Amino acid sequence: MINRETIDKIMDTARIEEVVGDFVHLKKRGTSLIGNCPFHGEKTPSFHVSVTKGIYKCFGCGKGGDSVRFIMDHEKYSYPEALKFLANKYNIEVAETELSPEAAEAQSAKESLYIVSQYASAFFVKQLWDTEEGRGIGLSYFKERGFREDILKKFEVGYSPDVWDALTQSATNAGHKLEFLESTGLSIKNDSGKIYDRFRGRVMFPIHNFTGRIIGFGGRTLKTDKNVPKYVNSPESEIYHKSNVLYGLFHAKKAIRDLDNCYLAEGYADVLSVHQAGIENVVASSGTSLTVEQIKLIGRFTQNITILFDGDAAGIKASLRGLDMILEEGLNVKIVSFPDGHDPDSYMHHVGAGAFKTYLEQNRKDFILYKANVLLKDAGNDPIKRAGIIRDIVESIAKIPDQIKASVFIRECSSLLEISEQVLSGELTKMRSAKLKKSFDGNQRSNQSAAPKQSFSSFSSGPPEPLGPPDDLWDDSVGPMGYEPQEPAKEEEYQEKEIVRLLLAYGHEFVNWDKIDDMYIGPFIMQNLADVEFDDPLCKKIIDYYKSEIDNGRLPTANHFITHKEREIADLAITLSSSEHALSENWLNKHLIYVKDESMNLKATILGGIFHLKKRKVENILMSLLKEIKEEKDADNQMILMQRYGVIKGVEREISKFLGSVIVK
Ligand code: UTP
Ligand code: MN
Repeated sequence: MINRETIDKIMDTARIEEVVGDFVHLKKRGTSLIGNCPFHGEKTPSFHVSVTKGIYKCFGCGKGGDSVRFIMDHEKYSYPEALKFLANKYNIEVAETELSPEAAEAQSAKESLYIVSQYASAFFVKQLWDTEEGRGIGLSYFKERGFREDILKKFEVGYSPDVWDALTQSATNAGHKLEFLESTGLSIKNDSGKIYDRFRGRVMFPIHNFTGRIIGFGGRTLKTDKNVPKYVNSPESEIYHKSNVLYGLFHAKKAIRDLDNCYLAEGYADVLSVHQAGIENVVASSGTSLTVEQIKLIGRFTQNITILFDGDAAGIKASLRGLDMILEEGLNVKIVSFPDGHDPDSYMHHVGAGAFKTYLEQNRKDFILYKANVLLKDAGNDPIKRAGIIRDIVESIAKIPDQIKASVFIRECSSLLEISEQVLSGELTKMRSAKLKKSFDGNQRSNQSAAPKQSFSSFSSGPPEPLGPPDDLWDDSVGPMGYEPQEPAKEEEYQEKEIVRLLLAYGHEFVNWDKIDDMYIGPFIMQNLADVEFDDPLCKKIIDYYKSEIDNGRLPTANHFITHKEREIADLAITLSSSEHALSENWLNKHLIYVKDESMNLKATILGGIFHLKKRKVENILMSLLKEIKEEKDADNQMILMQRYGVIKGVEREISKFLGSVIVK
């Protein structure tokens, strides 16, 4: 049991913005901090942190609490585990009431793995600095390579003696169980049952998770023998999952956040050297190819990655493709490459810290332009190769989720590749629609859920994908839809029915609209309304059925519903499809629905239907928020609600603006 005093101390010390900030990229917004909620998927922030109150609250999914609660929820820790986590973060010594042998036994195995790893690290450090072998071989190796003592100490590098079982002996003598030494991979049992150390005669780099606990090691040989592997690494274990660990992140994270950029190198030595040059926002993927988890991990701290490439051209070309993954995650990618034969480590020691720093600042190139340049150089004057480059570059640009950003790259690449913007945009559109069609076909085959979701919030930067920016195609001769509000619930019901009508009438039509990917109208509507809850029970039933049919690879026709065994569904379908006065006479007259023209202006009709409904739903949210704000007594909470109101109001304005350009009033 952790005693009361320790708990109080932890609670006094742990700052909510720091605790949450380790997992969520927080931005200042008025008096509070906001970010994307880590508990539910979202692309626009509804997660608020109140520094003064020491609490967080997500207005999207409702989760909230203090620092301990956050760690419990996020790391799936028990209460004492979360307290220990925070104690460790703030270097608070945990005073526990004496453990019984049983309780000690019961202490989680995972914790034991951390403890034995920490023991091993301390052992290696002691070997490096305090033994003749360590100093003579290990330390002098580091010194020869030009590493300063403060850097070696900061990264807790060590040395494993060239003996079969030095660590195993020392650890078991100190009371650590062999079981845990084995499951961390520090000790290995061979076929005849003999136990020996994994790391022998190597300099040791401990690998920390981003909260600073040691979870594994990389050991570099000092031999030049080609048959000896250069690095031996800890295997995967319950505490070490390579795909979501970045070497150096623990030491780098503060600088990454402060400088809003993360340098990404390849090796342990690179991280140490770049640090030594005074650049602390650097991590390494440590030999494995970069994973999505690692990118997301960086994304918690910054949206900007700068890759530090080793100097060999073939290697660079090979790694370029892997970087599209970073674009896909929405992060910005820059590249620094080094003169032939140099990696960041060798170049730092070659030119010195000052010159190295300047070099990084002056040789940072945007990834896509860098890639274009590399490929152009490679292609020379070969026209076929040059044509291939276009595809390659546009493929990268197509990965960028932000359309505005993508169009900036199109412009820049157009001048670099000497190809008109139109050709490049055309290529981009083709690629995007191929991707979308593929995902739709894929869904049809695999019976998975429909195309990617959109949310109201995607409006904050203009109408969402797959809609392009409104264009002048839509503004002619479309009937008026700008009606005065009547009783909201009725209005909403009509709008929902209008969607059902459009689905029945046009759902199975395949269209090819400017700026929208080729597809069937049915899935297009469903995709655009994925975030909308239908309130009218009958409409909801039809929509849900329609969706499940699409998910199962079928595209229902009006007939499907007209002949439906449920009477009320059939009735509605019949009414909606029977005549141009499909909806309530009253409503039609009032709003002069443009039935005659609608098939000619199908795009405007469909978009009008979708976005009028969206607008209505957003208005509902605004109304209930307004009510909440009035009723909320607490000033801080009220502030948070008002900020949210402001954001959603902006969304509403965007929708109105968009509708205004689709449909002339
Ligand atoms: P490098 O060969 O570039 O290593 O491999 P380095 O860290 O720069 O080491 P020095 O400068 O030669 O001392 C990059 C990373 O790939 C992984 C290690 O994580 C290394 O840091 N690696 C490399 C292995 O895991 N095993 C190997 O045999 C080689
Ligand atoms: Mn190296």
